[in-house]
Amino acid sequence: MTRAAITGTGFWVPERIVTNDDLAGWIDTSDAWITERSGISERRWLERDDQGRTLITGAEMGARAAREAIAAANIDKNTIDQIIYATLNPDVFFPGNGVFLEHLLELNTAGAMDIRNQCTGFVYGLAAADGFIQSGLARTVLVVGGEVQSTALDLSDRGRDIAVLFGDGAGAVVVQATDEDRGILASVLHSQGRYARELFAEAPVATETGRITAAMIDEGRHFPHMNGKLVFQHATRRFTEAIEEVLRKGGVDIGDVALLIPHQANQRITDAVAARLELPAERVFSNIARYGNTTAATIPIAMAEAVRAGRIHSGDLIVTVAFGSGFTWGANLIRW
Ligand code: UT7
Repeated sequence: MTRAAITGTGFWVPERIVTNDDLAGWIDTSDAWITERSGISERRWLERDDQGRTLITGAEMGARAAREAIAAANIDKNTIDQIIYATLNPDVFFPGNGVFLEHLLELNTAGAMDIRNQCTGFVYGLAAADGFIQSGLARTVLVVGGEVQSTALDLSDRGRDIAVLFGDGAGAVVVQATDEDRGILASVLHSQGRYARELFAEAPVATETGRITAAMIDEGRHFPHMNGKLVFQHATRRFTEAIEEVLRKGGVDIGDVALLIPHQANQRITDAVAARLELPAERVFSNIARYGNTTAATIPIAMAEAVRAGRIHSGDLIVTVAFGSGFTWGANLIRW
């Protein structure tokens, strides 16, 4: 049976570190509040020029992560026949970042597909890569999760609940067809659109002539908005359910899992899920303190760091899980 195995990981984050104290200098917040409520100490934000423009694009961040993953997989980049790019922050309104990545990597017309599933984008991306490979549509898929959040944050007191949580970064994996008994064993994907407006950025909108109005900008409707408490409650429940569902689907127990790589939304969510599943801290990966929430990038960044830290070994069972705007949630079960 053909399986889809992750054969290389990579990530890239900006050098610029923004600490909680930096944020407290701009908006009404404090290091104590942010650390206590979220577990975040600092995040990376892209450097900007004197016009406020980022020095590099989101797709360039994705390309830097992808080059590392391609080198780690030790493949000829021209064997990549499909790109899957997960981001909620594309560089332009259309086309998606996948085609910019194809150009930056000079990939000789590989297929490019973008996924807009916010924090769950990478989990959906791995499931899609598995489907592409199992169906024979592709043999080598590059899955990228990347986000430029820093330019989209409301750095006034109005936006403080969200602004303190998010960071920039990108992660990538190479997924290859294999006849060995390893790779993505199972995935589960869910959504519940009735909650779409509980975590969303409304504008620009297709229903408005000109897509965005001065009033919308004045009201901050182009910034992300979140019902934090509701998202927190649903996330804790859905993370746990998705993990249990993907384990059942794969026919394994939580005790068999070597490492859980959860979406990095809030350390309190991760801790609550680990406690419910009775998973000890050494079997749960966390880097939220250093990067904050990088949305679709959190899982591939964490995966690449876990590999480099020697926390993933050949044959290990790994679970990824995410929940986010949509609401969407899902999980992947992987034999490394
Ligand atoms: O990736 C998936 C998407 N996101 C998430 O999963 C996030 C889920 N939600 C959360 O992580 C949490 O709800 C937050 C970290 C966003 C907030 O924590 P909370 O414990 O739910 O706080 P809260 O929203 O209930 O706010 C408590 C207080 C409020 O003041 P009052 O009404 O009690 O006077 C807020 O105005 O904290 C205030 N507050 C802040 N204070 C200092 C909100 N943001 C800040 C801030 N600094 N940045």
